[in-house]
Amino acid sequence: MRVINAKNADEAVKLAAETFIEAADARPDAPIGLATGGTMDGIYLKLKELGFRPKTQHAFALDEYEGLEPGSENSYAAELTDKFVERLGWTGTLHVPGTGHYSGETGLELLEQRLTELGPISVQLLGLGSNGHIAFNEPGSEFASTTRLVELHPATRSDNARFFPSLEDVPTHAYTQGLATISRSSCLLLVVLGERKRPALSQALTAPSPQTPLAALLDHENLTLITDQVL
Ligand code: F6R
Repeated sequence: MRVINAKNADEAVKLAAETFIEAADARPDAPIGLATGGTMDGIYLKLKELGFRPKTQHAFALDEYEGLEPGSENSYAAELTDKFVERLGWTGTLHVPGTGHYSGETGLELLEQRLTELGPISVQLLGLGSNGHIAFNEPGSEFASTTRLVELHPATRSDNARFFPSLEDVPTHAYTQGLATISRSSCLLLVVLGERKRPALSQALTAPSPQTPLAALLDHENLTLITDQVL
């Protein structure tokens, strides 16, 4: 693992965007992997500022909430359409687990199949939950897991309540790429910002266990961690 200690969040976001562009442009025919959430907001803005024009025709989202109204502004599909697809004027295909062709059990298998056919992903953006989740692989997730429907941990629902009108509106379940699925990407770019994430990050690095999903990725041959936290 390559660790980049940024002096603050702004520097971390800039380094993350530059690293993402370099890795994506190095393999222009390969799909890219996108994440959502607060950490990614700044990175997607920076991609625009740096004039990034994705050359790939395919992007895969890591995860999606289950049970939202179609077109809900809280869906990750809507968020990525707004903050990545439309902002960058990109005309490729966004593949989102649990939606459209990728609905239901067979849809999730189809997503795995499409990833195998089109992949590997050149560069996968990753954030870390304050409880240590990776995508929506909550603590205790199988390291060999693939794309599936999962129940969200109460800590995840409570963290993400800030994006919804109330905690009750946060879905209880979500679709997520599995840890084994994610580990197939050529390059993993994990961005961890803020004091709030430090305990989960430090636990995964110093005491990796089935309770720290990041542990499944620590042996990846091309994992870069960019953080504003001193480890
Ligand atoms: C979402 C995802 C999640 C987030 C994590 C951190 O696609 O993959 O694992 O990266 O919940 O979210 P923020 O950045 O909002 O703290």
